[in-house]
Amino acid sequence: MKEFEPKIIAFCCQYCAYAAADLAGSMRLKYAPNIRIVLVPCTGRIDVIHILRAVENGADGVLVAGCLEGGCHFVEGNFKAKNRVRYVKNLLGRIGIEEERVEMFNLSSAEGPRFAEIANEMTERIKTLGPSPLRREG
Ligand code: FES
Repeated sequence: MKEFEPKIIAFCCQYCAYAAADLAGSMRLKYAPNIRIVLVPCTGRIDVIHILRAVENGADGVLVAGCLEGGCHFVEGNFKAKNRVRYVKNLLGRIGIEEERVEMFNLSSAEGPRFAEIANEMTERIKTLGPSPLRREG
């Protein structure tokens, strides 16, 4: 039987997580290929509906990666994102979907290795949980 390969959507802020992912690539760091990056100008632009849509459309996991706390270029975007992620986790829990499928991370643009770590950590976590109950095959 084919091993379960999670599909994970990563909303990455252009100033930090996206740059860190780029750095991880430049450093030729190997990390799980299950992450699909969506570039956003700031995690504050991620609304609850964006995360829910990703889950609804069959993502097994969703991560939101923003600047370090206190380092958001739009001052409080990452705090807004943190609250929205918390809200979605709570909502998922209420409808019987593991809230661990959604997570917020903070990192700086210089943390290429940390980005690789996050990708691996999320992939392992979702592999342990198994496919999303909303997953569409393909
Ligand atoms: Fe990076 Fe706001 S600019 S999280």
